[in-house]
Amino acid sequence: MTQTQVLASKCVFSVFLLYLTSTRVSAQVMTSACGSESTIVIKFPENDLNVTLPLSDEYVQNVLTNGEPTRVDVNFDPGDKITAKYPFSDYFLTSYNTVQKAFQVRMIKGIDRDGATGTTEDDVNILQYQLVCFPDAAAVSFYSAQYRVLKIQILDVNDNTPQFVYAPYSYTVNELTPVGLTVFRGISATDLDEGPNKQIFYSFSSGPSPLNLNGTQYFILPSELEGIVGVLSPLDFESMYAAAQGDASQVYYNIIVTARDSASPQSAQRTSQTTLKITITDGDDQGPEFIYPSCIRSSRPTSKSCIRPKYLTSVTSGNASISRRGY
Ligand SMILES: *[C@@H]1O[C@H](CO)[C@@H](O)[C@H](O)[C@H]1NC(C)=O
Ligand SMILES: *[C@@H]1O[C@H](CO)[C@@H](O)[C@H](O)[C@H]1NC(C)=O
Ligand SMILES: *[C@@H]1O[C@H](CO)[C@@H](O)[C@H](O)[C@H]1NC(C)=O
Repeated sequence: MTQTQVLASKCVFSVFLLYLTSTRVSAQVMTSACGSESTIVIKFPENDLNVTLPLSDEYVQNVLTNGEPTRVDVNFDPGDKITAKYPFSDYFLTSYNTVQKAFQVRMIKGIDRDGATGTTEDDVNILQYQLVCFPDAAAVSFYSAQYRVLKIQILDVNDNTPQFVYAPYSYTVNELTPVGLTVFRGISATDLDEGPNKQIFYSFSSGPSPLNLNGTQYFILPSELEGIVGVLSPLDFESMYAAAQGDASQVYYNIIVTARDSASPQSAQRTSQTTLKITITDGDDQGPEFIYPSCIRSSRPTSKSCIRPKYLTSVTSGNASISRRGY
């Protein structure tokens, strides 16, 4: 065969296959107004306000599209604990749309997918019903009934804001804590939503404090997925204590912690904030300090200088001996 011949025979064969497939599909479709799917899955967005829903298209779904069945009933399995709470007729309406020539399910009352708790036990993801369809008027009987599984998936909407647990946070860190060390693992936020709407990212920013210090220059979240705090740069109690004029209660950094969920688009993301107060405590990092009788200390409590001092010190270390005299 030439290439053209091969191509031509391939074409004929394809057309023949197409013909076979289409006759089979249409033959199947023609069998019943109740359609051919044994399981029908439709989806509605959640609406956590247990109220009558607006007549918007997002709350209408086509179910059977192969003609107009005479009657359609929907039953639920009383053994299914979740679905039993949602009797079909309380939340959904069925009808035949003569324009679209489709059997439709309209969601009439909101269902909160997320439930009241953070556990998945009270989440409502799938409601499963039994759909009983009678295809034609001539035979509305037990024998002509066709059974389908109707699964209604309740889609998550990002309607919950991350909530911090045990917030605001307060922690004490010794000034000698080395850079890179983890000092706090307690930051945590939860979100009742699902998937990306539940996934939380943490971030730090500087909050107001008496010493007006920027805590994000000293503490860091090594991973934005975890509420773990590490030391970023060396801490110094003495300089803060001096700036606070000896008021140790002011020796702290105030960091604003933001929890943001990962909903898409970004404009749908929800955030919440709390504070992390990190008080710095004194470590034994200063040499001994002697105050001499002749030292009249400055009235500023943190000042280490003497007014009109006279001093004599003698420090002996091993074999070295140093003497100083000053005025
Ligand atoms: C929704 O509200 C009805 C009353 O309008 C109530 O009987 C039903 O328990 C509520 N459902 C949920 C899930 O809160
Ligand atoms: C704090 O420091 C960070 C990092 O240097 C900087 O990006 C931020 O703008 C500072 N915030 C304030 C309020 O100074
Ligand atoms: C101190 O130095 C002297 C010599 O200057 C030496 O004999 C003595 O052993 C040294 N002592 C100590 C404790 O190092």
